Amino acid sequence: MSSYGNSKETSEVNSKDKKGDVKMDFETITAVQYPKLRMRRLRRHPKLRDLTREHSLSVDDIVLPLFIKAGRGINQPIASMPSQNQFSVDQLDFEIKSIVDLQIPAVILFGIPSYKDATGSAALDENNVIAQAIAKISKQAPDLLIIADLCCCEYTDHGHCGVVIKKDHGEFVVDNDATLELLAKQAVNLAKAGAHVIAPSGMMDGMVQAIREALDQAGFPHIPILSYAAKYSSAFYGPFRDAAEGAPQFGDRSSYQMDPANAARGVREATIDVIEGADMLMVKPAQNYLDVIYRVKQAHPAIPLAAYQVSGEFAMIKAAAERGWLDEEKAMLESLLAIKRAGADFIISYFAKQFATSIKPL
Ligand code: PBG
Repeated sequence: MSSYGNSKETSEVNSKDKKGDVKMDFETITAVQYPKLRMRRLRRHPKLRDLTREHSLSVDDIVLPLFIKAGRGINQPIASMPSQNQFSVDQLDFEIKSIVDLQIPAVILFGIPSYKDATGSAALDENNVIAQAIAKISKQAPDLLIIADLCCCEYTDHGHCGVVIKKDHGEFVVDNDATLELLAKQAVNLAKAGAHVIAPSGMMDGMVQAIREALDQAGFPHIPILSYAAKYSSAFYGPFRDAAEGAPQFGDRSSYQMDPANAARGVREATIDVIEGADMLMVKPAQNYLDVIYRVKQAHPAIPLAAYQVSGEFAMIKAAAERGWLDEEKAMLESLLAIKRAGADFIISYFAKQFATSIKPL
């Protein structure tokens, strides 16, 4: 009989097995080895490769972000995100039609309002750009799921995700609890406008609880919350900040978004949000945080998990492909599949239309 490793390793694994700590079927793994065992047998016939794939991707797994800008006649390409545009509501027809034709199940909306102020009051306006977009989309595409991103940063003149208190010496803090009051009102405004899912992305403590309570009290107990539970302070949001015109005017977001060095804490953030009433969780960004996706899914297998393939991840593939350094389609598919394999149930991606187009002939 062939064996694997030395006997010490074998007995260790076996003894752990008896205690039930390790699920590995050591006998099966070691019983058959090369040349009897040849893993390449399963890779030879393309159809057998397909049949035996552990993970797959379909258009049902993908959500497209849309940037909606106040005004008229706007259909503005975003330089750092090739193929993505800002749209004013009157220019959405064609985009909505192609989303429906490609059978993309859902969109997530980001608004660029006509005015910005210290508390993001445009987000509370009942007829703001997102309310108008929701009305337009639900009329033209009643079956499309509309997720509304909920955050202050696109609506505040300073670009932070909450109420800013300036201290002496140029120091500033984002006031957590004052921000919760705003988020609760914004959530109700989005639900009234007809959003099907509310997705808070501001990384304020207690935000899910505050939003859940507000929605329930306002008669929206049926509206689910998709919490950006583990959102990292990331350089890969760069292109988005151009697209959504919401870059912080001073400082950065590291006092509320997570430190990229922390993974276990991402799981803790997720658990807290589940306790506060999140119906779905999100990890963001995706590619550099596949371990966090994996851990959150392992910790909460019954909670649907989203991952956001953010603007910088998208832009990197686009830029390399433009130079001929990467095969764009293959890189797109591999990156999306990796996110799924790590444990995401669905993926928010700027590749949504391109992905749907690439698999359409099937
Ligand atoms: C705002 C928000 C951001 C993104 C989604 N919602 C930017 C940020 O936190 O600076 C990033 C999305 C992307 O990069 O594609 N709260």
